[in-house]
Amino acid sequence: MQRVFSGIQPSGVPTLGNYLGAIRNWVPMQEQHESLFCIVDLHAITQFQEPAQLLLQTREMAAALLACGLSPEKCILFVQSHVPAHAELGWIFNCVARLGWLNRMTQFKDKAGKDREAASAGLYVYPNLMAADILVYKATSVPVGDDQRQHLELANDIAEKFNHDYGVKLFPRIEPHILGVAARVMSLRDGTKKMSKSDPSDQSRINLNDDNDAIALKIRRARTDAEPIPGHMLQLEGRAEARNLVGILAAITNTMPENVLREHEGQGFGSFKEVLTEALVAHLSPIRAEMLRLLEDPGSLDAALRRGAEKAEAIANPILAEVKQAMGFLARR
Ligand code: TYM
Repeated sequence: MQRVFSGIQPSGVPTLGNYLGAIRNWVPMQEQHESLFCIVDLHAITQFQEPAQLLLQTREMAAALLACGLSPEKCILFVQSHVPAHAELGWIFNCVARLGWLNRMTQFKDKAGKDREAASAGLYVYPNLMAADILVYKATSVPVGDDQRQHLELANDIAEKFNHDYGVKLFPRIEPHILGVAARVMSLRDGTKKMSKSDPSDQSRINLNDDNDAIALKIRRARTDAEPIPGHMLQLEGRAEARNLVGILAAITNTMPENVLREHEGQGFGSFKEVLTEALVAHLSPIRAEMLRLLEDPGSLDAALRRGAEKAEAIANPILAEVKQAMGFLARR
């Protein structure tokens, strides 16, 4: 049986990008497979997080994931730092992954920016911990947005090298599940940058807790161009912002971008934006309401996360023991 694993950083409120590229695809998976969804706080601290903010954002993330349809009865929802096996296997993988592999990671280059010397060592080995997240459960199916593709390739390289070096068939191959027209939702201010919860500009993204007025304002201000909407996707080449808005409307209304173009061909972006706002508000306002309701009772949220961690540990600990045994670690008896 396939085991599903995915993670999300509590580095802000989840965005429309997280929702369309990942979370929305997690919901049906919990019905069909044993699924683990993890709030990866150890990953979030690879860039400094204010303690009070991290605490708030971790609960907000849990509330958002539940409000989007994850159910603690159907999946294992938990916080990464509650299950120490992640960090332990992450260390082991620091000793398996090669510097040359990490040097090729484009996300490190993006996140570290110009001053690479000032980036944390954690940011550099981030993909090793991510490989550990997945492999400590021997998960095989990982639903993510397009930006995680390279990290998953690295995870497979680590798994393969481990199996080879220790002469075992311990870790399975991971299959990335990169789904849908919205695997890459772009910033509302700059169509060449991905929409991100950690972007300094709040105008660049829709947050899952934005109210209807905020959504309307952000869409009205979203960058577009002066050309009318064309009839074919090919004609959106070189029009990154226009293409992004068309993709968002298609994803949120469960249709293909071609159908959106057919319906709006020849129009300007004024009326298109009204339709987009309406669709977003209809889809997101029930999620926001549920998220706010759940946040009124942090005790219940914490209890659900604790139960999730207990279930996760029951799977991870025996696998970690198997790893240590394969490596020749003296067992603690
Ligand atoms: P994070 O927190 O950046 O994003 C969570 C998920 O949302 C997707 N995503 C997007 N999809 C489409 N358009 C966007 N603009 C957009 N922004 C984000 C991401 O691809 C991701 O699926 N490294 C991961 C967290 C992680 C993880 C893991 C994921 C840690 N361990 C193990 C899978 C398996 C991350 O930073 O996600």
